[in-house]
Amino acid sequence: MSKRTLKVAVLGLGTVGFGVPAILQEQKDKIEQTTEMKIVIAKALVRDVEVKKALAQKYHFQLVPDIKDIVQDPEIDVVVELIGGIEQARVFIKEALNACKHVVSANKDLIATYGEELTTLAKKQNVNFYYEAAVAGGIPILRTLSSSLSADGIYEVLGIVNGTTNHMLTQMMQKGATYDEALTSAQKLGFAEANPTNDVDGIDAAYKMVILSDFAYGMKISLDDIKIQGIRMLQSQDVKIADSLDYVFKLIGYSRKFDEGIDVAVAPALVHKNHQLANVNNEMNAVFVKSAEIGESMYYGPGAGSLPTAASVVADLIAIAQNVQHEVLGIPFNTYKKAKKLATDSQIRNQYYFHFEVLDGKKQFEQLKSLFAKAQIKIKQMIDYDPQVVVLTYAASAKRKKQFLKSIESTPGFELISVYNIFD
Ligand code: HSE
Repeated sequence: MSKRTLKVAVLGLGTVGFGVPAILQEQKDKIEQTTEMKIVIAKALVRDVEVKKALAQKYHFQLVPDIKDIVQDPEIDVVVELIGGIEQARVFIKEALNACKHVVSANKDLIATYGEELTTLAKKQNVNFYYEAAVAGGIPILRTLSSSLSADGIYEVLGIVNGTTNHMLTQMMQKGATYDEALTSAQKLGFAEANPTNDVDGIDAAYKMVILSDFAYGMKISLDDIKIQGIRMLQSQDVKIADSLDYVFKLIGYSRKFDEGIDVAVAPALVHKNHQLANVNNEMNAVFVKSAEIGESMYYGPGAGSLPTAASVVADLIAIAQNVQHEVLGIPFNTYKKAKKLATDSQIRNQYYFHFEVLDGKKQFEQLKSLFAKAQIKIKQMIDYDPQVVVLTYAASAKRKKQFLKSIESTPGFELISVYNIFD
C-alpha cells in the first residue's frame, strides 16, 4: 500500500525556504520511516515566479503568486510561513488556520507579538501551529523546553540568541574589527535581518526572549515587559577592561525567576571566561538553562542560516505528520500556562560592573566606597585606571543599584561612563 502524503505549501523561498526542499529530499528515507508518510512540497508562494523557476523545477513543485491558490486548495495540509515581517505574515497564517491547514513558521517577530492569537485560533481549528525555527534557528530549544524539560522547574534562561551581534562582538574582540566592519561582515554572511537595527539594538533577541519565557515559565509577556539595550553604545575601552579582568562581552538575553516573578532583559553583559557562554563565538547561538532537577544544561548550535533553520522547520513538519498519523491535533506547541508576574526591583539581583571617571583623582576613592556602602552594595574589586575607576560588585538588588546611581548623580566629582551586569 502506498504511503499517505502530507502536502505542504511554502510561503517565501528565501534563505530558509531554499533549504526546506533540499532537506526533504536529502533526508527522505529517514523522514518516511519516522512518519510513515511522504512529505512533499506541492506549492510555493513567491512574488516573482520567474526568479524561482529553476528551484521549482528541480523539486517538482508549483509556483503560485496568490495566497488563495494555497488556502483554497483542499489538497494542501500544511502551510509553512517563511516570508518574515509581521502584518502580511499574520494575515496569511490566519487565512491558513481558518482554512484548517496546519501551520509552521520561523517568524519570531510575529510569534512574539501575536503568538497567543494564532495559538488560540489553531486550537479552535483543531490544527497544529509549530515554530521551532523561530528561536535560535537550528537549536531545538522550544521542543526541549516544552517536552524534555517538562518535569523540571526552570528558573533561569540565559541566551546568546542573536547571531549577528555575536558575530560582530567576536570580530571586534578577537580581530580588532570596527563596529561598521563587523556589521558589514555579518550582513555579507547573511545573518543580519533585512533591517539590522533589530539585531544591533537587541530587538531580535528580545522577540526570542518573549518566546523562551513563554516556554520556560508559561508566562506570556510582551516586548514592553523587557528592558532592551543593544550593542551600539558598547565602548572598546570597556571591552578591553573586561578582557583584562577575564571577562568577555556578550549580548545576553536573560529571563530569570525571582520568587514567583520573572525579570526579562537583553543587554551587553560581562561573561566570565570560565562560563560556558563565553566560548560561544561568531554566529553560533546558545541557551543556558538552570533548573531545579537537572541543574545546569546548555543547548548550542547555529542560530541562523539556510540548512540549520530549515532543519528545524522540517522537524516541525515531521511532528505534524506524526500527529496526523496518530490523530493528535489542536494541541498547542507549549501547553504550560501561568499568569504573568514580573519581579520587582527589590527582588531582582545582579552583580554589576561600574565604570566611572573620577574628576578629582584619588581623593574621591573613599567617598565612592562610602556611597556603595550607603546603598548596601558590596564591592568585590576596585581597579584604578587613573583618572578612571572600575568597580565589580557582589550581587545586589536592582533597587539598590538605582539608589546608588541616583546618589552618584547628585555627588560632584564622578561621572558614570557605563554600567553592565556580570555573569560569573
Ligand atoms: N538576524 C538573526 C540573527 C537571524 O542574527 O540571529 C536568525 O534569527
